[in-house]
Amino acid sequence: MRRHETILILDFGGQYTQLIARKVREQSVYCEILAPGTPASALRDARPKGIILSGGPDSVYAAQAPQADPEIFALGVPVLGICYGMQLMVHRLGGQVKGAGRREYGHAVVRVVKQGDLLAGLGPAEQVWMSHGDEITALPPGFQELARTEAVPFSAAEDPSRRLHAVAFHPEVAHTTSGQAMLRNFLFRICGCAGDWTMASFLEEACDRIRSEVGPRGRVLCGLSGGVDSSVAAQVIHRAIGDRLICLFVDTGLLRKGEAAEVLDRFARTYHLRVRHRDASSRFYQALQGVTDPETKRRTIGEVFVRVFEEEARAAAAEGPIRFLGQGTLYPDLIESRSVRGPSATIKTHHNVGGLPERMDLEVVEPLKELFKDEVRRLAAEMGMDRELIVRHPFPGPGLAVRILGEVTPERIAVLQDADAVFLDELRTAGLYDDVAQAFAVLLPVRSVGVMGDGRTYENVLALRAVETTDFMTADWSRLPHEFLARVSTRIVNEVRGVNRVVYDISSKPPSTIEWE
Ligand code: XMP
Repeated sequence: MRRHETILILDFGGQYTQLIARKVREQSVYCEILAPGTPASALRDARPKGIILSGGPDSVYAAQAPQADPEIFALGVPVLGICYGMQLMVHRLGGQVKGAGRREYGHAVVRVVKQGDLLAGLGPAEQVWMSHGDEITALPPGFQELARTEAVPFSAAEDPSRRLHAVAFHPEVAHTTSGQAMLRNFLFRICGCAGDWTMASFLEEACDRIRSEVGPRGRVLCGLSGGVDSSVAAQVIHRAIGDRLICLFVDTGLLRKGEAAEVLDRFARTYHLRVRHRDASSRFYQALQGVTDPETKRRTIGEVFVRVFEEEARAAAAEGPIRFLGQGTLYPDLIESRSVRGPSATIKTHHNVGGLPERMDLEVVEPLKELFKDEVRRLAAEMGMDRELIVRHPFPGPGLAVRILGEVTPERIAVLQDADAVFLDELRTAGLYDDVAQAFAVLLPVRSVGVMGDGRTYENVLALRAVETTDFMTADWSRLPHEFLARVSTRIVNEVRGVNRVVYDISSKPPSTIEWE
């Protein structure tokens, strides 16, 4: 049984659905995203404070258009329809939606003709973000118009007696200047939420849930990668069951410079977790000998990882049986796998340990599976974890192997580690680390001619990559200051043996990807 208020969001396939969820949670209100056709009875049983119908790419008249159970409008629970959600509401309740023949897309100004509940406290004209093809030509009986643009009526409407509210634009998008105020009106004024979703309450609930899942004697094994998600998951499980959590850290030899020691130091010494450590680097290097194809590299690393993990798990089980595997799965991972249109196409096979639980016959414990990344960071702060760990850039499972184009050798790993360390060190010193989402060096399978002192050199070319992104699905290359890049380049060429040329990657994603392999 949930102890906090909940808003349910039905996902009609809109590109902003996750953003709606995050904006709701930013107001300290818990919410979940559900399939569009979730039956009204299931929604009622979940006792939500309100329901939000998301946007979506379809026309309500299209044959394959996702539908909602019409009974949701009669539950007496407040409903907010956004864009497609509004059209669906209007269409279902006897209003009219028509193909507009042109898209209303981008910035628009709406005139507020009546504030009502949804637009209470807003100005007479509001800047909003539109993205729809169809438009509404008649409201259902009982609805009142709240806002319109120059060209199109019914940009916002509501029927307060039935607690139904709707906007044709996107309040969740930052371009809608008062979008947060509109969402707050819905959450607090209309749904009567109190805002009881805090990380402190989440932590308490998560610990109770882990204790009941694992039982009084159950032991949990949790892989630590050094990244935020597995670290926070381990820390939450440790809060719940103490030393019945056994952490396993496999040093692949493909980590950033000094990272293995740092992880061990932090978790074993500072956080007092029981950590089994296995230096398997030579196993990984051996398996990677002669491998140059990116996908083969990922597969090879994945296979060795699973084998080492299994060996260590068996060793840990010698002290007492282990029935559970802790994992740092996040909410977006789950939404992806059950989204309206199915999981998005995988461009690269991401190395993860997804197959481990079945292979090893373990049940999973996933304390973060309801959280977005920014909430995981807030949770880490709530537990007093180091800031450095919390703000750390993501790091791929196969590690530096996918940042060495061509064959991975211990020597090339050492060159890359040194160069990468200089880049990150300079970013931190310049106060730029938090401004970029991910930054790293890439070692190219190319040598070029240089001159150092009086001599000719023929050495490696190294690329620097820094990107800005929030979702990692699209990314822009960071416009790092030239003086800064010059300093990094000079230091790398002077300090890292084997590199005589540094280049900066100025490609965005798409068409490039963030990693080079
Ligand atoms: P790309 O290169 O696909 O990267 O634009 C998007 C994000 O995913 C990370 N990434 C990986 N993470 N295993 C991982 O765990 C992988 O094989 C992998 N490949 C890319 C990448 O670092 C970026 O944050």
